Amino acid sequence: MSVSKELPFTKDAFEDIAETYGTPVFVYDEAGIRASAQRLIKAFSWAEELSDGQRNHFAVKATPTPAILRVVHDEGMGFDCSSRPELSMVSGAGLADTGIFYSSNNTPDEDYVYANELGGLINIDKLGYLEQVHRALGGLPTRMAIRYNPGKVKQGNDIIGDPYDSKFGARPDQVIEGLRRMRQLGATDVGIHTMVVSNERRPESFAETARLLRELAERAEAEAGVSVGFLNVGGGIGINYHPDEDPVDIEGISQAIESELAPMGIPIYTEHGRAVTGSHGYLLTRSTHGIQESWHRYLQVDTSINNMARLATVSAAFHVLDVLGREGDPEDKMFVVGSMCANTDRMFKEKLLPITTQPGDLLVIHDAGAHSRAHSHNYNFRLRAGEVLVHPDGTHSLIRRPETEDDLFATTKGL
Ligand SMILES: Cc1ncc(COP(=O)(O)O)c(C=O)c1O
Repeated sequence: MSVSKELPFTKDAFEDIAETYGTPVFVYDEAGIRASAQRLIKAFSWAEELSDGQRNHFAVKATPTPAILRVVHDEGMGFDCSSRPELSMVSGAGLADTGIFYSSNNTPDEDYVYANELGGLINIDKLGYLEQVHRALGGLPTRMAIRYNPGKVKQGNDIIGDPYDSKFGARPDQVIEGLRRMRQLGATDVGIHTMVVSNERRPESFAETARLLRELAERAEAEAGVSVGFLNVGGGIGINYHPDEDPVDIEGISQAIESELAPMGIPIYTEHGRAVTGSHGYLLTRSTHGIQESWHRYLQVDTSINNMARLATVSAAFHVLDVLGREGDPEDKMFVVGSMCANTDRMFKEKLLPITTQPGDLLVIHDAGAHSRAHSHNYNFRLRAGEVLVHPDGTHSLIRRPETEDDLFATTKGL
């Protein structure tokens, strides 16, 4: 039997959304997002107590939609931004007051200036960017950070890869030199950031990262006489894509970090994406031609892989897929495909699904709340889906309209 997971909405509610807004469409559960944000904030309350107005940040790149940002802001989260448009979205939505941690790379001068104007804490990715920030801003901000890459002493995973091969961050010696130069150039409160795991479930992995950060801060003090004023442990907490996995122990992860870092008595920041929104988004799609057969069975749907690009790009990606109303029907292995003219448009391969599936049936891809709509693209002129937020009282709103052909041609000349 295929694996299944509980859905927060009934089949009728999904039908209503599909009829109101069309498919494919991303559907978010506001109550679920709020509950996950609250759980994280509670679990990391020890870190909030140490912090100074800055706090748990939401990684905008996970679900960059103003209505979603408003929900997490309402719950008290700040924002981790990594690009100018992310800054513009947070600022334009009037949400910059809960704090911005700006972790960009290959950054133009004007973006550093903009981040600084918004009160964002600039986190440089490479030592070489320090002089650039100094020049672009006409001096350093009082608070700054540098991103640490521990290299071979820390293992990554299938999603993020090993730190040693990652383009992000600086070597320990470079971090220490960066902190020393920051202080020399006028910053009074300097910190270290890192982000080396993704969809990680093991508390011991977070404890290891925290220990590496603490040891580096101690080295900075011992070797360069620099007191590290704060640390950012990044994001990377996983979710249960597989229903048979144990629930992620958010509190255990937080405690693992706390035991390494709380004794330092300095502000500790976090920046989570997937753990906040990942489990609370669904891609709703309708079968167009039901099951068509050649060498395999192909279940044809009205989304292509452009809307769920992580199914093509993340080798470890796994998502539960339900055909609504066909639960318990006989199943067989099939490929789930859209209409893109590319053989990579194969969202699921040999997935056990009901052989009774008919054209018009609704399908739900679970756990599409983070790094999903955000990763979508327009290859082969496939349109990107809109987004709907279901409020705690069951009403729903369109928070991003679906793309149209006009959107595709909006940047071309000659039509
Ligand atoms: C710098 C940084 N912080 C936070 C995140 C959020 O990661 P996650 O959604 O895994 O928590 C990312 C994800 O790519 C990131 O690059």
